[in-house]
Formats: sequence, structure tokens, C-alpha cells
Amino acid sequence: MKFFIDTANLDQINEAHDLGVLDGVTTNPSLMAKEGITGEKNIKNHYKAICNIVGDNVSAEVISTDFNGMIKEGEELASIDNKIVVKIPLIKDGIKAIKYFSEKGIRTNCTLVFSAGQAILAAKAGATFLSPFIGRIDDTNWDGIELIQQIATIYAVQNFKTEILAASVRNSLHIVKCAEAGADIVTCPLPAILGLLKHPLTDIGLAQFLSDHKKANG
Ligand code: G3P
Repeated sequence: MKFFIDTANLDQINEAHDLGVLDGVTTNPSLMAKEGITGEKNIKNHYKAICNIVGDNVSAEVISTDFNGMIKEGEELASIDNKIVVKIPLIKDGIKAIKYFSEKGIRTNCTLVFSAGQAILAAKAGATFLSPFIGRIDDTNWDGIELIQQIATIYAVQNFKTEILAASVRNSLHIVKCAEAGADIVTCPLPAILGLLKHPLTDIGLAQFLSDHKKANG
């Protein structure tokens, strides 16, 4: 399973990259706004800065909601760097745009996915990545992990090539459950990644080892 970080914060991207386990970055308009990145030029420069940190897979989302607008915007985003993946919402024109980019060999990340039916449509259109929002599903008293399982089953049975990129991941347990459910990728905030390190018995055990070594070696 690949790890992407879900942020536009360069410090956090650098920290995750330094850990050596980062495979990509996902952003969205809310995350860009949170970092105060506004204006077309600044936004493009920021995507370039992210591409300069990571090896591949930088999702940059279109703002347009009509086919022609998405194509124009997506082509501009893709021209920033060959690490860019054009992120497109799962709406009617979005599916058409994903098909268009798929035929042109431009990678896409189909976002705002909340059902297996949507997942089938995105795969049929040739999406590279599919982003089901598991945390937001949990927020509505449905089970986001069950959706990952269902999509993983469908994609395997149907031999769809689209990779499942579990998004709206809120905590470390979500990551473990996504791995179990068959997600190809998780994208998550830095604390959820770092939370995987934590276990009190690791801390207690390490303190004991160091103390025993000190006693024996002076
Ligand atoms: O990857 C999508 C993510 O940014 C949304 O997360 O926590 O706002 O549902 P959240």
C-alpha cells in the first residue's frame, strides 16, 4: 500500500518525505486555501514546490465544473510537472474529462467518491486513482471502510486497473483498516502517519534495553 500525505503544507510534506515512506501528495482547494495560497500564479508555483520535494504523484484539483473548463485547467496543471495528477470531481462532466485525459495519457484522481456505483463509473472512464472519502462517510453514520472493501472486491472481480486511494483518512486506525480492506493507497494527514509509530510497550521496552546496556557497560 502506498502512502500519500493529504496537505499543501510544505513543512509537513518535507517531514513525511524525510521519513522515507512517502509516495505522493494530495491537495484540494480547501487545503490550498488553508495554507493561504491564492491566485493562479502562486497556486502553480506551490504545486511546483511540492513536486520538487516528492518523487511522484502530486494531485492538483481543477476548480472548473464544466468539461471545457476542466480540460483547459487540467492541461495547464499537467504542464507544470510530469508528477502532477489532475484531480477531478465525480460529476457528469468530470467523468467525461477523466475519459478525455485517460485517452491522452494524463493521469487523473477522481475525487469526492461516496458510493460503489460512482467507483464503477470512474473506473470505466479510466481514472488512474479513485478517492473515496471514508472519514466523511463515517460522519454520516455509514462505514467508510466497508465502502473500500466493496470497491476493492468489484475492482478485483472486474479487473479494473484504477487504484483505490482512500481519502478523508482521519486517524492511524483508518490506515490499518484501509490496508486490511484492500486500498492501494491511503492519503492522510501527517499526525495519522506519525501515529502509526506509537505503542507504549515500544517506549517501555526501549527504555529497559538502554538502561540494561548502561548498567552492564557503565
Ligand atoms: O483527501 C480528502 C480530504 O482532504 C478530506 O478530508 O477530513 O476534510 O474529510 P476531510
